[in-house]
Amino acid sequence: MADGEDFAPHSCGECERGPVDRPANLLPMSRGLQQPVESFRDAVLRGLALPNKSIPSRFFYDSVGSMLFERITTLDEYYPTRTELSILQQRAGEIAARLGSGVRLIEFGSGSGVKTRLLLDALRAPSSYVPIDISAELLEHQARSVAEAYPDLLVQPHHADFSSAFRPPAEPQPSSRTVVFFPGSTLGNFTAEAAQVFLRRAAELCGAGGRMVLGIDPFPAVPVPQPLRHKREADVLAAYDDVAGVTAAFNRNLLVRMRRELGAEVDPEAFSFVPRYDARCNRIESYLVSQRAQHIGVDGQVFTFRAGEAIHTENSHKYDPNRLDQLIAGTGFRVATDGLFTDRDGWFLVVLLEVVGDGSGR
Ligand SMILES: C[S@@+](CC[C@H](N)C(=O)[O-])C[C@H]1O[C@@H](n2cnc3c(N)ncnc32)[C@H](O)[C@@H]1O
Repeated sequence: MADGEDFAPHSCGECERGPVDRPANLLPMSRGLQQPVESFRDAVLRGLALPNKSIPSRFFYDSVGSMLFERITTLDEYYPTRTELSILQQRAGEIAARLGSGVRLIEFGSGSGVKTRLLLDALRAPSSYVPIDISAELLEHQARSVAEAYPDLLVQPHHADFSSAFRPPAEPQPSSRTVVFFPGSTLGNFTAEAAQVFLRRAAELCGAGGRMVLGIDPFPAVPVPQPLRHKREADVLAAYDDVAGVTAAFNRNLLVRMRRELGAEVDPEAFSFVPRYDARCNRIESYLVSQRAQHIGVDGQVFTFRAGEAIHTENSHKYDPNRLDQLIAGTGFRVATDGLFTDRDGWFLVVLLEVVGDGSGR
């Protein structure tokens, strides 16, 4: 597959319609990004100057990257989406009953919102829905389509970087409790320490009585009585190394984006995409590896690459289902009783967390 330049940015009739067509229950998009923690330019200049070059994975998600990610979710190799959807299709009713009626649903990294609808369909009279994403165009599109599909639901899109502290928009009407929805094993992109900081902030955001519905990718798989297919290291790695090359294009889009937005002098095809499984950290690491010695220029600065030198683009941590308590400990959450939901083969895990006390962790 060619690089991300072959994909047209998101465009649909709906987004091109004017404010006249705006559903009454869709509130204006609020922003937590006026002063981004680090811009793409600054992250690239800093990351390429490091001894081990790296660019944070949140910069994957411009409009082209978001579209490439949607393609990844449909690939045979990419089991996380398929398996998480199957869990929600079967168990959303049970999960929703545990959350109760009248909740405020806040979703981190809402993306296309396919999973959201399964939860919204099952929830009783949710008071409002707050999708949060770094990809503004996709966010506006997803929020609008949810608002159209659920006319009784107040939808409050919030454009923010969830890896930093931010304040969500004020509640438009009272709710019974705040529930954070964080599917897609996106938590796995954080290091263990950053995941704990993130969970602590989420618990504080939820406050007393709050809940979190968290999707994680377990490895080893969750022990289930009779799995039809055991999950192996090769399955986990294949999810990040599809034969069609969509994940490679998704990674190379970082270089395409550098060229498009920063005027960088770089040939994306001079870098190969290389994912690998690191058993010590139980994670997939993704790299763009320079195929030859070369220089690339960004904003007047020149960065030298040896042949084989890599840019680290992403970590995708897997979690041992027997050690979940370690991940959650001290964050202000605990795993709810009977709060683990898995698929037929134990390949994915949806975890229901509940806030301990007021969520401050004290
Ligand atoms: C792995 S995708 C998951 C999408 C969707 N939730 C799902 O389960 O299929 C990650 C989503 O989070 C968004 N995202 C990634 N990093 C982010 C950040 N630091 N702040 C806000 N959104 C982010 C991306 O734009 C994308 O929509």
